[in-house]
Amino acid sequence: MNKFVTLAAAMLTAVAAVAQVPVYMDETRPIDERVEDALSRMTTAEKAGLLHAQSKFSSRGVQRLGIPELWCTDGPHGIRPEVLWDEWDQAGWTNDSCVAFPALAALAASWNPEMSALYGKSIGEEARYREKDVLLGPGVNIYRTPLNGRNFEYMGEDPYLASRMVVPYIKGVQDNGVAACVKHYALNNQELNRHTTNVIVDDRTLYEIYLPAFKAAVQDGGAWSIMGAYNLYEDRHLCHNTRLLKDILKGEWGFDGAVISDWGGVHDTSEAAEGGMDLEYGSWTNGLSSGASNAYDNYYLADPYLALLESGKASEDELNDKARRVLRLIFRTAMRRDKPFGALCSEDHYAAARRIGDESIVLLRNEGSLLPIDPAKSPNILVVGENAVKMMTVGGGSSSLKVQREISPLDGIRAMAGDPSKVKYARGYVGDVTGEYNGVVTGQDLKDDRTPAQLIAEAVDMARDADYVIFVGGLNKSAHQDCEDSDRAGLELPYGQDDVIRALAAANKNLIVVNVSGNAVAMPWAKDVPAIMQAWFLGSEAGNSIADVIYGRVNPSGKLPFTFPVKLGDVAAHNFGEKAYPGIKRADSPILDESYDEGVLVGYRWHDTRKVKPLFAFGHGLSYTTFDYGKITADRKHMAAGDSITFTVPVTNTGKVAGAETVQLYISDSKASVLRPAKELKGFAKVWLEPGETRDVTFTIGKDALSYFDADRHEWVAEPGEFKAHAAASAADVRSTVAFHLD
Ligand code: BGC
Repeated sequence: MNKFVTLAAAMLTAVAAVAQVPVYMDETRPIDERVEDALSRMTTAEKAGLLHAQSKFSSRGVQRLGIPELWCTDGPHGIRPEVLWDEWDQAGWTNDSCVAFPALAALAASWNPEMSALYGKSIGEEARYREKDVLLGPGVNIYRTPLNGRNFEYMGEDPYLASRMVVPYIKGVQDNGVAACVKHYALNNQELNRHTTNVIVDDRTLYEIYLPAFKAAVQDGGAWSIMGAYNLYEDRHLCHNTRLLKDILKGEWGFDGAVISDWGGVHDTSEAAEGGMDLEYGSWTNGLSSGASNAYDNYYLADPYLALLESGKASEDELNDKARRVLRLIFRTAMRRDKPFGALCSEDHYAAARRIGDESIVLLRNEGSLLPIDPAKSPNILVVGENAVKMMTVGGGSSSLKVQREISPLDGIRAMAGDPSKVKYARGYVGDVTGEYNGVVTGQDLKDDRTPAQLIAEAVDMARDADYVIFVGGLNKSAHQDCEDSDRAGLELPYGQDDVIRALAAANKNLIVVNVSGNAVAMPWAKDVPAIMQAWFLGSEAGNSIADVIYGRVNPSGKLPFTFPVKLGDVAAHNFGEKAYPGIKRADSPILDESYDEGVLVGYRWHDTRKVKPLFAFGHGLSYTTFDYGKITADRKHMAAGDSITFTVPVTNTGKVAGAETVQLYISDSKASVLRPAKELKGFAKVWLEPGETRDVTFTIGKDALSYFDADRHEWVAEPGEFKAHAAASAADVRSTVAFHLD
């Protein structure tokens, strides 16, 4: 045979081989075509086999057809370490330490969608390297009360801010061939009684406040999966809530991905079957606790579902719809050949964590420009407080991590000090000395048996000799702090920290308080402390980011994504008695009814409209420079319904150092037929300005930014008349206003 004949024969064999690739395996074909082909080859049992977990974090594919399994991981701040097949205990792998990124509340405080894109890309790469298909996050439940133990995992109190910030995260993750699983859909705004709280909320509030970030995640972010929440709405668990899952998510928003249950969020086979649940995880059904045979066959969407299908009580169409969605999720992730490889613990990821942390720290107060500290002068610095040394990446619930490294604030401050030996440490208070989650241990020994009086006396004594005192306190990741499955008991700082701060303020006038938390805390001493920083849970690079800002290596540019109230009673949700929080228990069942009586007046909407002065307003954050806002102008005085309108405001850096300012655009309706918040955020832009530099910041909005949700008509309505646009540095700091008309 000559070589051309050999070549032709080889080509024919190759063509034949290609022709034999089944449609569902052929990645050149559209996903939906492949999904239909796969579905047509599957038995009923195989379809149902896709719809429930096979281990703590994985679910089946179709072995016979070569359709791969799905592997999930928490989320949302780093990649969770490997647990055993059917236990929460550690699997003991030695390749699963990760980079911890700042908590999502911190990300929101950066007010910078570019940081969100960087975050999504980086964590997506870590997930990909660890061969995960679904990242359980991000979370966008609205910050309704500062008691919610899980606010640190969410993006603040404003639906517009959360919507803008969630989208780039999702895209960044999914560019890696890893699905984001947006959680916890929806109305999961507290941890207390999270399995038994039935939320009562009017439709207008639901659509204006609690749903927009989820809608943006689905429609603008293109999220491939979403997690149903634990609680109830309209008397039905959210993991089988027909209205939220089928009518709104899959119907109104056209979501084509899979709904994954929160772990143990499914409670009933037929409700889950017809209520829009696609993939059940974490159920604690019979068999699972004792591990009899295969417990996962007992899941609601496993054998019991098959029985329902066989008896004709569940429809084949419904089964196909669920299987289609899960297949789509598998084809988009696990069954993709063209995915990048990802990376774990790369220098880029540490740099990303630090940058995001740097941009998220909020300088709340800086009287007499106490900060930044000049390291060149090698001052005597006293660092006080448990949070200066306590590891924060372990604990807090499912977001707990096993990190390759975590820089503590004390280490960060020492590393950047001119003379590290001049940075001393005093404990100040003893908070929670435990450091363990699901078998991951910090290994820190934080035990200290001294009395509070002894600890304060030591700190005060040392404070007298210091040029600066930096108190690092706040909350931590233990139960009833910033932690899943429990809420805080109050707004106050725990462990007697207020006493320590007061004593330090009396001993040294150069006191800086660094509050590490994911929630607002009461600061009754605020006026006596010249410098206050909100430093969040910043992950692996925490100490470096904090030191960056303290020493002025970074000019702070974070702004609060939620209001700091003076006291708990100033928070909207805490104004309507027990029925609005934590809910009232029914006499005959474990269910509590909780009524969101504050309606749309959540966060700054309440403070502004009801004129309740906050301690620090939503959107507040200082810089080491100052910014002047010029007059805001509109490109037109009148707009018609189909028009857009553009506002311009010049902003100047009037200080001596370069810095970034987040300019906020709020809109108010001058006269409305319904109660509308005094103003609402409808735009923001973070601009970097050199000293003396001026830039025009522009915002273009359409009618949607003027609308409220009319529940009776089930549509967004903008009433003609006068509106005002405000250029503001925070919700409490409007710099310039212009009026315009909707005709
Ligand atoms: C949490 C989820 C988490 C899941 C898996 C649940 O308890 O609410 O956010 O993704 O566990 O760990």
